[in-house]
Amino acid sequence: MSDFRARLAGQGYYLPERVVTNEELSTRVETSDEWIRARTGIRERRIAAEGETTSDLGFEAAKQALSDARLSADDIDLIIVATTTPDLVFPATAALIQKKLGIRHGAAFDIQAVCSGFIYALAVADGLLKGGVFQRALVIGSETMSRILNWEDRTTCVLFGDGAGAWILDRTESDSGLLGYDLRSEGHYADILKTSGGVSATQSSGFLEMEGPAVFKHAVTKISNSMQRLLERENVDVNDVDWFVPHQANQRILEGVADKLKIDRNRVVSTVAVHGNTSAASVPLAFGQAVSDGRIKRGNLCLLEALGGGLTWGSVLMRY
Ligand code: ACO
Repeated sequence: MSDFRARLAGQGYYLPERVVTNEELSTRVETSDEWIRARTGIRERRIAAEGETTSDLGFEAAKQALSDARLSADDIDLIIVATTTPDLVFPATAALIQKKLGIRHGAAFDIQAVCSGFIYALAVADGLLKGGVFQRALVIGSETMSRILNWEDRTTCVLFGDGAGAWILDRTESDSGLLGYDLRSEGHYADILKTSGGVSATQSSGFLEMEGPAVFKHAVTKISNSMQRLLERENVDVNDVDWFVPHQANQRILEGVADKLKIDRNRVVSTVAVHGNTSAASVPLAFGQAVSDGRIKRGNLCLLEALGGGLTWGSVLMRY
């Protein structure tokens, strides 16, 4: 094994301007602020403007990350975008962002693991950087989930939002960076969280469909097990983790996982109230928010996790 690590050189995030509150949604479907808050913890979410695409959001987040890392676009030789809501079937959203950044070298591709996409993308970038194939990766989670929601289905439309987060990972000899990861999937559960259509099946994207309670049942156990496996493999005591940065699907899931692993709830980063579930963007968005408000600091040990359609799930241990 090389001594090289993928170190987080800079990060950034972007949220569309438009805020949609629970009150506003309750004028469109039969729901209420009380129901949404009590069942999910969500208060509001951001929704992309007409014509504003996943690559637009990802591009804005990438510019923030470059500025945070004090790098220019030309320093990047690998772009990986985790998304379920690409601008187009092809080219990959990563290639579109590469074009927007004016990068003419290196490689760019997308990863599709739904809400676990960013965790998967970090693991792939880690392997490519450690192997010495690339020097500096831009890893982005970007979503316009609003485009695949059925806005008449109250069981799903109240849960999701749009946004993007970006990390720049540097191949460097360092004690900081990605320390390890755990990735899992079980296609056996494909039907409990899916879209009603797809290019090959129906020639359209369809709408997001979810058996909420069934997904909920899997979430706490599968995520906790993944995190425990990872901590054991890396020989890290959960009490030594400074910040737990979970996928922001539901406040009850966040707390259920934290309680199961006996993680103090004050060490859990939660942005679900103001972002909703932004799928692959949710982990870097939550991380970015906690860095901005001064909670997560350089040197902190962080445990990230996500579970999503597939089912896919996983966790990443990293030192910022
Ligand atoms: N407003 C009011 N009532 C509602 C709403 C709404 N927006 N939505 C559902 N209800 C009703 C239901 O119809 C049901 O009514 P009934 O009892 O008369 O049949 C009642 O509320 C309870 O519904 P449940 O679905 O049982 O509610 P639950 O407590 O399970 O909460 C939720 C639903 C929030 C979806 C929850 O199950 C959940 O968070 N699941 C996991 C989501 C998740 O983790 N997703 C993973 C990632 S997503 C991805 O990968 C793209």
